[in-house]
Amino acid sequence: MAEPGDALDRLVQAVRSSAKYAGISEDFVQRVGAAELSKRRSLKEAIKATKNKLHQVGGAYLGAAGDYPRWLAALQDAAAQGNPALRDACRAVMAHHASTRERLPILETFFAETLADIAPVTSILDVASGLNPLAVPWMPLAPGAIYTACDIYHDMMDFVGAFLALTGVAGRAFVCDAVYDPPDQRAQIAFILKTLPCLEQVDKSAGLRLLDAVRADYALVSFPARSLGGRDKGMSAHYEARLRELLTERRWPVQRFAFETELAFLVDKRGDSAAS
Ligand SMILES: C[S@@+](CC[C@H](N)C(=O)[O-])C[C@H]1O[C@@H](n2cnc3c(N)ncnc32)[C@H](O)[C@@H]1O
Repeated sequence: MAEPGDALDRLVQAVRSSAKYAGISEDFVQRVGAAELSKRRSLKEAIKATKNKLHQVGGAYLGAAGDYPRWLAALQDAAAQGNPALRDACRAVMAHHASTRERLPILETFFAETLADIAPVTSILDVASGLNPLAVPWMPLAPGAIYTACDIYHDMMDFVGAFLALTGVAGRAFVCDAVYDPPDQRAQIAFILKTLPCLEQVDKSAGLRLLDAVRADYALVSFPARSLGGRDKGMSAHYEARLRELLTERRWPVQRFAFETELAFLVDKRGDSAAS
């Protein structure tokens, strides 16, 4: 019989040989894979369960693997033409990720309204960012603001880093695992956008751990208003109840913002008065 270490190596290799998962952090695949190996009866079942989980937390949002070199070239052309063209190109790229695609109809108001009280924003830590950093042109940033983004995809983070450099925004993008090893960069605000449900699918305690761990004065936490398939199913109420449950013992004031496709909460982590 194979040693557990061998089985995990074989699982990681099998999962990452698929183009859909090749860009995902090896450490993250290993952690998810080890948990599945301990629960499943065979390596084959564990490989299938690991792929399912990676699909649920990341793959489901990206149609095909990202065409990053072509997207970057389009953004470079647009940047050379100036602001309206750059915004159009950012919108076109954000349409390739289901999460940012859902935000496109509310892009003009989402960041302006949720960040109004703390604008101009001086630093952002965008946890599990997906392609959200491409919404920078719609954010009320201070000159010289620092943008730090992280996600489980290497290729996506390379692309996001190149986008920040192209648009002259200070900061960087790197691979992280917000479930097992939350990022510890300090920022004025942490974005935790539509991410808690994904993390809690891997570990039920990951949401509160992340909210506690992020070193930021504020956290902007959001949830989708509908499922990926487009159905409402009372999701907003369910997610709001979950967030309020998580925050029961944290005396952090919370502001609520309801948009057509997203429900957002600005959490003031500095405060210790009773949450609203
Ligand atoms: C629903 S999408 C949200 C993306 C982005 N925050 C937004 O609102 O547009 C969830 C994101 O979480 C990322 N993700 C899933 N598990 C993660 C983990 N353990 N650590 C970091 N990122 C993760 C996925 O790759 C995906 O980009």
